[in-house]
Amino acid sequence: MKIFEPKAKHDFMNGILQGDAVEKSVKLYKDAKHFYKNVDADLRDDTVMYEVYLYSKGDDKVGNLNWGLTVLKPVSVLGECNMTRGHFHKDLNCAEFYFGFAGKGLLLLMDEDGTCYSEKVFPGSVHHIDGRVAHRLINIGDEDMKVGACWPVQSGHDYERIEKFPFKARIYKDANDIKVEEE
Ligand code: PA5
Ligand code: NI
Repeated sequence: MKIFEPKAKHDFMNGILQGDAVEKSVKLYKDAKHFYKNVDADLRDDTVMYEVYLYSKGDDKVGNLNWGLTVLKPVSVLGECNMTRGHFHKDLNCAEFYFGFAGKGLLLLMDEDGTCYSEKVFPGSVHHIDGRVAHRLINIGDEDMKVGACWPVQSGHDYERIEKFPFKARIYKDANDIKVEEE
């Protein structure tokens, strides 16, 4: 019997996902501006807002899974906390697990009626996201927020739906406090 090295390694202490099979994508401020209520003219377009690492077999066969890591930088946009674009899944039968590795934040969730709620994210937190619930990560801390994810390959990301029907809550931060602004 041959014994192989794993195709990817997730260093749980440092929250780093590595390996030849791992793909990395980077979200810059210029591509994230429209998530925020206001545009920060002083924030450079090439500011890294978050990185996503993905380990997938790349085969859309039902039953296959993706494993991912999101690293959200501790940036704010005129006081609004850094966040992912957020999405519904295209296939609403596909749920997802998120789990906190590092940093501090919120998982903002919105059901199909527009009701928003959130869960605290911290190292060791585990979050089940129903397939019909839109989800967005928000970094409310002062360090990188690292969150792992596992979801079916056929889920897809429906960004258009969340842009037409946006989250109804925004999170702001000042020196002492977190503020929730709800529509
Ligand atoms: O599949 C997921 O839910 C995550 O891997 C996200 O894609 C990741 O957190 C980045 O968020 P978004 O896809 O909303 O930009
Ligand atoms: Ni998702």
